[in-house]
Amino acid sequence: MPIPERLKPRFAAGCAPAPDKLAQARLRLIVALDAPDARAATALVERLEGTCQWFKVGLELFTAAGPDVVQAMTARGHSVFLDLKFHDIPNTVAGAVRSAAAWGVRMMTVHAAGGPAMLAAARAALDGAANPPELLAVTVLTSMDVEQLSAAGVERSPAKQVELLAKMGLEAGIHGFVCSAQEVAAVRALTGPKGVLVVPGIRPAGTQAPRRTDDQKRIATPAEALCAGASYLVVGRPITQAPNPAEAAEAILEEMTQALLL
Ligand code: C5P
Repeated sequence: MPIPERLKPRFAAGCAPAPDKLAQARLRLIVALDAPDARAATALVERLEGTCQWFKVGLELFTAAGPDVVQAMTARGHSVFLDLKFHDIPNTVAGAVRSAAAWGVRMMTVHAAGGPAMLAAARAALDGAANPPELLAVTVLTSMDVEQLSAAGVERSPAKQVELLAKMGLEAGIHGFVCSAQEVAAVRALTGPKGVLVVPGIRPAGTQAPRRTDDQKRIATPAEALCAGASYLVVGRPITQAPNPAEAAEAILEEMTQALLL
């Protein structure tokens, strides 16, 4: 189902959609570089540049390689999404957000579960920054289902919990959210076109077990996520663990392009 015009997504600063649908899809695909060290990450980037523009540096790679790996990618002209999911007291998170913004990343994450004061402090930390990154609040991890949430003491459904956290983020002045494709239409209805909505848990159409039944629980195809209102898709293992990562990325871009033509 195509998304209504009034809810069409916004994009991170400096990343307006290109007119051509394939070019547009390319700017909306983020490759999660969950690699063990800078060498492995660089090898993946070298195989994928030309196909993909965005790379996500998460906990595994950042813990192994630090800010140098981020700066190497920005120096090569790539857009970097720093996904460290900060979750600490407001003062500590504000300091971390300020430090990360200085590395020239285009998007970064904090955990919405850190609460309203932490979210407001994170947002305020970017006030006055030149060319600030989009600050995204992670709602409910795509690896969590009803059972996982309940075990962590949350008795609401993932959908209700995502809605609660998104409303909290909006009240704190945040317009970027990470959620699964199953909640993205509801979050889009809350944010309107201003929302920058990033959706992980993407599995290409036709993905078979065990890939379809890995740690991700709330999954969707690239087309489903885009049609539901995602601004960006995050894809890791379906690309990085494919025998030919560039070919796997092109196949996902094709699925995205078909959805954008609807
Ligand atoms: O390999 P896969 O496609 O499952 O990778 C998904 C990526 O998105 C991982 O890097 C993971 O840390 C990240 N992510 C997620 N769910 C969230 C937020 C981020 O899977 N809610």
